[in-house]
Amino acid sequence: MEHYFTNNEELKSEIRKIEYSYKSTSFLFYSDLGVFSKDRIDYGSKFLLECYLEEKESAKKVLDMGCGYGFIGIVISKITGSNVTCVDVNKRAVHLTEMNIKNSCVNVKVFVSDAYENIKEKYDVIITNPPIRVGKVKLLDILIKAREYLNKDGEMWFVIRKDQGAKSVVKELEKYYMIENIDKSKGFYVYKANFN
Ligand SMILES: C[S@@+](CC[C@H](N)C(=O)[O-])C[C@H]1O[C@@H](n2cnc3c(N)ncnc32)[C@H](O)[C@@H]1O
Repeated sequence: MEHYFTNNEELKSEIRKIEYSYKSTSFLFYSDLGVFSKDRIDYGSKFLLECYLEEKESAKKVLDMGCGYGFIGIVISKITGSNVTCVDVNKRAVHLTEMNIKNSCVNVKVFVSDAYENIKEKYDVIITNPPIRVGKVKLLDILIKAREYLNKDGEMWFVIRKDQGAKSVVKELEKYYMIENIDKSKGFYVYKANFN
């Protein structure tokens, strides 16, 4: 079965545009077939981003893990002036993020990486609407390994739906992190994880 993170060179292209505004700043994102939430900003991603921005309008070094077309990382860069890196295993998502970086006039790095495979640096913040469809083992691996790529006092922010096993994922992560539930809405839970 094909998933949105599969690198399928045969997949046809039907570029579409998605608008988003944060307070008075407007954004336009290019999206396409074969990427996550291709027709609209995902509710969970928007909720995660806006919870994050409410708490952190200051500049940080940020990694957007599983960036899709770059929504979370690009908005954080524009609104907070943070030094942002975006990665995704899906080449089309990375290409769209490149287009969206140019279009939003932000200085964001983006490259293909299967989880942390190509990550060489550490960050103050890792933020992710993580890939659920990869299965619980890989999902937990991505969330647990984030520790190795966080600076001292670093934080991981993530969103997960109750019916996607939020409670059991958090229970597992509590072996490695102190977890705080920042907010919940429509069955989506936003968490912040620290490990010091
Ligand atoms: C739930 S989507 C979120 C996308 C985007 N951040 C957004 O908010 O629209 C999860 C993303 O993780 C990516 N992904 C799946 N497996 C991955 C892996 N092993 N390493 C990196 N990214 C992965 C998918 O391609 C997808 O873009």
